[in-house]
Amino acid sequence: MKTLIINGSPRKNGDSMTLVNEIIKHLDGEVKIVNTYFDDIAPCNDCRYCWTNYGCSINDEMQEVYRLLNEVDNVILASPLYFSELTGKLLSFSSRLQIYYTVKKMQKKVDFRLNKKNAVLVITGGGNGGPAPAIERAKIIFGLVNAKLVGTVLSLKTDTLPAGKHIEAMKQAREFAQMLNLQSEKCLK
Ligand SMILES: Cc1cc2nc3c(=O)[nH]c(=O)nc-3n(C[C@H](O)[C@H](O)[C@H](O)COP(=O)(O)O)c2cc1C
Repeated sequence: MKTLIINGSPRKNGDSMTLVNEIIKHLDGEVKIVNTYFDDIAPCNDCRYCWTNYGCSINDEMQEVYRLLNEVDNVILASPLYFSELTGKLLSFSSRLQIYYTVKKMQKKVDFRLNKKNAVLVITGGGNGGPAPAIERAKIIFGLVNAKLVGTVLSLKTDTLPAGKHIEAMKQAREFAQMLNLQSEKCLK
């Protein structure tokens, strides 16, 4: 089983990564992490190469992510809330997923699909500003990469209760990891 983790937090050992690490601890198979704050992934510049070609003209680390997105069994998106949204860096990363929209809408390859995968969303917040916009945006991202959301881990009072001490969120993290393991076993049978 292969899992791609997309981390939208600048804090390498922050709340979001604490929950992601709890998932990883209980997850079978290989894991690859994309750190949107540190990896060399430029935003989409609307050059429109993808209107007529499959793929993206920008030659950076996103090329490897495109390859993985057609190979992995799971994708995990993790982000702190910034003004109730996914972080700007995660949205910047997500702009590069536009190729999966244009291949269908501009190139009219309406049957185009990446391989099917399962998704888990991890959202953390200090306690001011709710998660609804971020969850909506994450659902659009999962749709683009043909991922079915199987669970959302929420820790929304991190100013007073760090994610690592949020018993329910840590439990959800473990349970969703186990759910992904089970789904993968079912597929192998
Ligand atoms: C610029 C900025 C905006 C934020 N906006 C929100 C918000 O709208 N709602 C909220 O609950 N927390 C908000 N927070 C708090 C973070 O989401 C919270 O501290 C989170 O646990 C950090 O996660 P991390 O350690 O994974 O980066 C904001 C923090 C920053 C720096």
